[in-house]
Amino acid sequence: MPDLIDIPASFAGVGDVTDKRVVITGASRGLGRVLAHAFSQGGARVALVARTETDLKAVAEELPGSSLVLSGDVTDGEFNEAVADATVAEWGGLDVWICNAGISPVLAGPLKTDPSVWREILEVNLTGAFLGARAAARVMREGGRLIFTGSVLGERPREGLTAYSASKAGLVGMAKGLALDLASSGITVNVVAPGWFDSPLAERWKNSPELGAGVLGHTPQRRWGESTDLAGAYQFLASDASTFITGTVLTVDGGYLLA
Ligand SMILES: NC(=O)c1ccc[n+]([C@@H]2O[C@H](COP(=O)([O-])OP(=O)(O)OC[C@H]3O[C@@H](n4cnc5c(N)ncnc54)[C@H](OP(=O)(O)O)[C@@H]3O)[C@@H](O)[C@H]2O)c1
Repeated sequence: MPDLIDIPASFAGVGDVTDKRVVITGASRGLGRVLAHAFSQGGARVALVARTETDLKAVAEELPGSSLVLSGDVTDGEFNEAVADATVAEWGGLDVWICNAGISPVLAGPLKTDPSVWREILEVNLTGAFLGARAAARVMREGGRLIFTGSVLGERPREGLTAYSASKAGLVGMAKGLALDLASSGITVNVVAPGWFDSPLAERWKNSPELGAGVLGHTPQRRWGESTDLAGAYQFLASDASTFITGTVLTVDGGYLLA
């Protein structure tokens, strides 16, 4: 039988982000700062987005490559459009937009979660990501990549985090819908779902013996995620090696969802 599958002269480099033009929201600290370093070290140009300009400038100073600092609120549609326009003005286009900005301000059951807090979490984590995706899709061309930072808590909630879990579960549905809507434009849409990483957002768990023990107890690898564990998933989904992957969730959790 003749083998009809073509063998290319070379295969795309897994995680190769050289020369990619990348927006990272929530880049001023925590996971977004790790991603900024990883993409910059990988030869990408990065636009750093968060509300606090001084923090973004400090991150930009640390990076080996060139970067843009764009401060603003991801819940502001006009700001997202301005970020997209800035990438076109500065770089001539945009390849990757990582919707990573997120909040988790309460640890409380429903009766103690004020509806305004519920709305704020959904507004930043879900609507903010939609507004970013919408702005990105306007300027991206064939080969564009949208990547959302979800969470294992979107699939396996823990007590007191219902609004957060709802927002992260919502991201998965949104990514799947957008993957369908944007497939004909050659743009892929995927979610990276981290487990527990030691960032300012997770301080409450890290600093509490009881909550911290719960994290380790539910993580089969018995450790927190480290910066070196995180970026590969994003770089793979941003690279030319993942062209046929869309509408999926890539979990990076030390086995949390298994236990
Ligand atoms: N840490 C974990 O274990 C973990 C696990 C799973 C998923 N995640 C997700 O990973 C993402 C990053 O979390 P993290 O742990 O790195 O949190 P973090 O350390 O608190 O950082 C959050 C980032 O988002 C920015 N941000 C917050 N609200 C914003 C807004 N309205 N507009 C623009 N930027 C905003 C913050 O900067 P400003 O305050 O200056 O705006 C900061 O750069 C979040 O989506 C989070 O849900 C984290």
